[in-house]
Parts: sequence; C-alpha cells; structure tokens
Amino acid sequence: MKFSIKSSSAEKISTDCVAVIVWNKATPSEEARAIDGVSSKAISKLLRSGDFAGKLGESLFLHGVAGINARRVLLLGGGDKKKFNGKSASKLLRAGAKALCKSNASNAHFALASVKVSDRDSAWLISRVARDSEDVSYRYDTTKSKKNKPVPTKAISVAPPSGSRRKSAEAALKRGQSVGRAVNRAKQLGNLPGNICTPSYLAKQAQNLDKRHRSITTRVLTEKQMQRLGMGSLLSVSSGSAEEARLIVMQHKGANTQSKPHVLVGKGITFDTGGISLKPGSAMDEMKFDMCGAASVIATMGAVAELKLPINVIGVVAAAENMPGSKATKPGDIVTSMSGKTIEILNTDAEGRLVLCDALSYVERFKPKTVVDIATLTGAAVATFGSHVTALLSNNDALAKSLRQCGEKTLDPAWQLPLWDEYQSMLKSNFADIANIGGPRAGTITAGCFLSRFAEKYHWAHLDIAGSAWNSGVRKGATGRPVSLLMEHLLNQKA
Ligand code: BES
Ligand code: MN
Ligand code: ZN
Repeated sequence: MKFSIKSSSAEKISTDCVAVIVWNKATPSEEARAIDGVSSKAISKLLRSGDFAGKLGESLFLHGVAGINARRVLLLGGGDKKKFNGKSASKLLRAGAKALCKSNASNAHFALASVKVSDRDSAWLISRVARDSEDVSYRYDTTKSKKNKPVPTKAISVAPPSGSRRKSAEAALKRGQSVGRAVNRAKQLGNLPGNICTPSYLAKQAQNLDKRHRSITTRVLTEKQMQRLGMGSLLSVSSGSAEEARLIVMQHKGANTQSKPHVLVGKGITFDTGGISLKPGSAMDEMKFDMCGAASVIATMGAVAELKLPINVIGVVAAAENMPGSKATKPGDIVTSMSGKTIEILNTDAEGRLVLCDALSYVERFKPKTVVDIATLTGAAVATFGSHVTALLSNNDALAKSLRQCGEKTLDPAWQLPLWDEYQSMLKSNFADIANIGGPRAGTITAGCFLSRFAEKYHWAHLDIAGSAWNSGVRKGATGRPVSLLMEHLLNQKA
C-alpha cells in the first residue's frame, strides 16, 4: 500500500473513493457538507431517509454522486463528536479500511482535515490511518493452495489537518505504515506452523534483516556456542528436540557507539508441547504461537531499521522447541544457568523463563539503557487479563510507567502487576538456588519474579503477552501485539 498527503478538498479530489465522517444523529461533518453542497444534497437526502445514523463503526458506499470528482463516497459513522477519542478514531478507520477491502476501489482518500480527536494530536490520527489500513488488510494464505485475492486498494491519501505542516504529516504517515507492516510481519511469523517456523527459520528471518538493512548486524549462536557461554538453562529446553536451539542477536546501529542500547528480548519457543510435563491435547496446536514474543522483536527490529531510528537497539531472540524425548529434561533435573545460579526444573512446561533467563544474562554485556522482554509466558496472564491487556512487570517504576503510557497511546494496552518479595519467596528450592515454578497461585507474578533474578544489573520490564498475542476460536490467529507498544517505546527514546 502507498500512502500520501493530499490537500485538495473532499468535493474536488479525484479518487476512486472519498471517505467522510457522519456524526451521531446523522450529522454530516464539514467534509460531508462540502460534498452535499455541490451534489444537489445527495448526502442530506440519504441521511433523511434514515438509512445511515452515523453510529461509530458504521460504513456505507454512495455511488454516482453528482458534482464531485470521486467515483464513490464512503460514509463513516463517527458516533458522538464530542466523545470522539483515540479508540473511536481507530474503530472508525478500521471500519473504513474493511469496507475498502470489500470494494473494488484501487485508491482512496480520507477527508479528515476538520476532525478533532479529544485525547490525541493530528499526527497520531494521520499515522493511524496508515497503521490501521495495513493491519486490516492482512490475510494469511501461505499454507493454503488457494491464494487470497490481492487487496484492491493500493494507494491511500489523507487530507492534512488544518494547521499541520506537510513534512510532519508525511513523517507521521510513514511511521504509521512501518508500524502497521511490522504488526503484520509479527502476525505472519506467529501464524506459520511449527514445522515451518523452527528456531533456524527465525534465525533466517533475522539474517534477512541484516541483508536488507545497512544499520542491522545479525549474529546467530549455535548450541555449541551457547554451551561455551554456560547457557545450561536455555539448552535444557531444546535437549528433547531434534531442532537445535538458536540465540539470535540483531543489532541496529542508529547512534554512535557510546550511546547505550535499548534491548528487546523475545521468547521464541517455536512449539511448546510442555516437554515431559506434557500439555493436555486440547488446543495444543495453539502452542505454535509460543514464539510470538520473538516475532514481535524481529518485526520491531525491521521497523526500527526502516525508520532509521537515531538510537542503538538490540533485539535478542531465544529460540527453541520444547519436546519430550529420551534426552529431554525431566522434572527434578537441576541445571546451571549462564549467571551461575542453579535451577531446579520442577515442571518442564515452565520453559519460557528457562530460555529467557540465559538471554537476560547474555545481554548484560551490552550495558543496556533498558531491557524489555516479551513472552507468551503464563496461562495465568490469560486468566487475569483475558485477551485485552498485556501483563507488565518491572524492576523500575519509571520504565513501567512509560511502557504503560506507550500501550495506552497505541491502543495496545499493558497493565502492571507487583514484583514483591512475598512472591519471590515462592520460588524456593530444597535442592537448587531457585525453582522454575512458584506453585499454582499468582503464576504471572512468580514467573516475573523468576526472570527478575536474572535482570538485576539493568532497568528491566517484562511483558507477558500470553493473552494478547493471538486470538482463539473462529478468529484464531496472531494479533501482532505488542509491536505497536514497542515501537512507541523506541520512538520516544533519544540517543
Ligand atoms: N507457553 C505457555 C504459556 C501459555 C499457556 C500461553 C496457555 C498461552 C496459553 C508456557 O510455556 C507454559 O506452559 N506455562 C505454564 C507454567 C506453569 C507450568 C508454571 C502455565 O502457564 O501453565
Ligand atoms: Mn510451557
Ligand atoms: Zn511456553
């Protein structure tokens, strides 16, 4: 999709489709009125018929409107104009993008110059047009023999809001498009089955970023190299699998070498059977999504490079397959992590923290400004937050607050849980320094506590995306979260 800023007015613009807002109680927006004025009242006639009330999320195409240069008009319901906020704007834009996907319009124009979003600025609205259009147009067909028809709409333009500068409007569009495409990239990696998307497949994707972008250098560590580093915890997860584990390190250099990097660490379990602590069979297929943290890191690194962010960013993926087998780790086994801490593995299904802890020790060498790990870590996060909210835990309140704000702004929300000492003590082991599970209660918090023991040397936050990373049921598929949140976090940083 191509995006551009076009300042011609709604009634004059030449396009396959001009989209305008109608507010609650069939109240036309400024742009809708402008079309009405030159079209012998085409819009007010329709609104008087009662067929379109302007409810938020409604959409309707009008054909053959006289007096304008657009082939069609797309009416978008905006709801209550006074309550029109970021959430409603996104709902409206997504309804518009969905309507376009079903149409045959090869280009379209969003005439939104007069629109005010109560809790966002105009750059946010512009960037959201691109972000949501990309997001909505994603379809999975890689492993279907019958391919989807390509999305009809190839080019979308947006009217610059009154008073905004063209340059900044264009930059906002570009940011939105990069984020939207990264969201789709994360969905795509998540949706691929476990027999295609293996640890070495993820490594290949990271190496492709290195080829495509001058700013990115990718290094992939093999099991042998991880052994030399003492990553006994990570390697205990892949020991039952024929697929070798990989530690994938992507470095984006956007600032000088002295500028400390922001680090992202992704859980990349390409399939989680539970290992010897085997999972029950129902819905086990969904454990192909257990690498969605890794997918969000790889996708975010791509957008960071595409937008040439003027900071240093390092993305690390701990990739492994968790399988039972004669060489698999058994409950009660004790391993030594890279940090030197010994871990009693009481449940081999708590494998995410075992790969992440060694990755967290590994990134100490970068002397990071911040470290954020992203993981489909606990079923308890799904029980706590459902699919709407990502669980956030952190050893630094300023970082936690900032991530929460990033989530709110990008409509990719996260909410903090406590990392208190009372919970830390649930990880005591009789035979090792720490146990890998804290019992059946407070599972998201004890998992966060486990990770915190390996993240003592820097400002760190953990995002448990077990609920938010994919949908189940008829809409089964990866969501691309929390790429939007992560991009906002990095866009806010200065070198
Ligand atoms: N990948 C799962 C977490 C998960 C489960 C995400 C269900 C989404 C839906 C993780 O590796 C896991 O199995 N966690 C266990 C931990 C437990 C053994 C302490 C869990 O949450 O049950
Ligand atoms: Mn597991
Ligand atoms: Zn898992």
